[in-house]
Amino acid sequence: MSAHKKLKLEHPSLAKRGQGRFKSPLIPPDVTSGGKLLSVKDKKYLWHPFTQTSEWEKEDILVINKGKGNYLYDTKGRRYLDGVSSLWCNVHGHQKAEIDSAINKQLKQIAHTTMLGLTHPTAIELAEKLINIAPKGLRRVFYSDSGATAVEIALKIAFQYWQQSPRSSLPATRSPDINRGGALRKTKFLTFSNAYHGDTIGSVSLGGMDLFHSTYRPLLFKTIQAPSPYCYRCTEPRRVQCYEPYVVHSPFKSTTNNVNPPCLQKAESLIRKHHRSLAGVVIEPLVQGAAGMITQPKGFLKRLRTLCTKYNILLIADEVATGFGRTGKMFACEHEGVSPDIICIAKGITGGYLPLAATLTTEKIFECFTAPYEENKTFFHGHTYTGNPLGCAAALANLALFKKENIIRSLEPKIAYLKEHLKKFYEINNVGDIRQCGMMVGIELVSNRATKEPYPVKERVGRQVVLEARKHGLILRPLGDVIVLMPPLSITIPELNKLLSVTYQSIENVTVKPGPEQYLKKAGW
Ligand SMILES: Cc1ncc(COP(=O)(O)O)c(C=O)c1O
Repeated sequence: MSAHKKLKLEHPSLAKRGQGRFKSPLIPPDVTSGGKLLSVKDKKYLWHPFTQTSEWEKEDILVINKGKGNYLYDTKGRRYLDGVSSLWCNVHGHQKAEIDSAINKQLKQIAHTTMLGLTHPTAIELAEKLINIAPKGLRRVFYSDSGATAVEIALKIAFQYWQQSPRSSLPATRSPDINRGGALRKTKFLTFSNAYHGDTIGSVSLGGMDLFHSTYRPLLFKTIQAPSPYCYRCTEPRRVQCYEPYVVHSPFKSTTNNVNPPCLQKAESLIRKHHRSLAGVVIEPLVQGAAGMITQPKGFLKRLRTLCTKYNILLIADEVATGFGRTGKMFACEHEGVSPDIICIAKGITGGYLPLAATLTTEKIFECFTAPYEENKTFFHGHTYTGNPLGCAAALANLALFKKENIIRSLEPKIAYLKEHLKKFYEINNVGDIRQCGMMVGIELVSNRATKEPYPVKERVGRQVVLEARKHGLILRPLGDVIVLMPPLSITIPELNKLLSVTYQSIENVTVKPGPEQYLKKAGW
């Protein structure tokens, strides 16, 4: 029995009312809820993440009840291109047969068993496969269930590592309590302004987005913060423009190859000054995603790696957003030939199906936690759903698809297409900067291109663009006034064309104030 028929039996009056309202055969009634029932209940009972409730209450909300390929469907049967891959995680599209069947197969075995004191085949197999594709030197996998937990784990591992590191690996100390040299010294983290690493207190402490984080300041631990490599809004005096490979260059910019940008020099001087107390440097490699797809100048990550090695600091790469092909390589670190000491992965790990994450470390770090129990070197951390078998099965199917469909290779023409067609967006006066790293795009809107003046927050321009795009069958989610495009990697060229054209039109409709000519055109003169 179809959902519609079933609903008719359960709520005949509601179904009838719904039918009456939607006359167009293209827009059937709300098949699963009986008209507005679901949205009413949503507004009555739910509290949505990163959502201003006053706006949500007024909004005509979308209830998504189906996904197929690169499209989402709402309860009225309307179809939308998934322009942000369901929050940057969907890889192969929705209802991908291979992942569906891997989960179903696993369900027939077991849905969940703990990894505390037990193990299971999919977790073991996946760990081996992750190690095989991870940057060189990463040898151990610690599972969790979200990007934030993967980062939280990295943070705790790095901290504890220095607490129980062999004395010889610690910086020289004059402290009489020489055995506690690590504990006394290497306890701090170098982070970047504008960084986003998740919403748990540890990952928020590592973050640098005031909008999200300032309220919690009294709860957070302090870090040593280096400036964000935000080239478009660089405040440092520069004699030469830095080389920014991950920017769609406009006619308004000139770039030369400055291999030593001022933001990097600042990070370097902080590392030199604080290296004795630094346990780790935490970075989103190549792109600060949540801050608005802020792309880094070439060589930034590589130089950090060199400095971390030189000063004996752990390099922690948060690849939660950039991992699994988003930048055009499996991991962003590969673009600069960098191997971090710890990597955090989540989002795309299951192809965007289930909450699974992992923190990978070197063997050297792992060994430091291996000792007789009474030495208290155990990593006392874990979650109920750590390494959930369904998640691991989905992740294995995801990795198999990367191989079978040669995903990384297949991205090349799509990335080139994006790059070529994004240039056109500079024709819109209020487009200030366009940043692109592989399949990750941020289009920064400004009220004045010459001064880079942002729009007043109250205008909610980014949100307006997203609502406009929705009317034309495209789901986006902005980061302030940065319009983000981050489709499933399986998006086709015709779909990319739709993504770009609807986005272009929506930005234009929202930002271009009708001048006299447009008024005349509208009036039909
Ligand atoms: C770089 C980065 N780290 C961590 C996170 C947090 O991931 P999650 O939302 O799965 O906790 C995100 C989320 O967008 C992210 O972009």
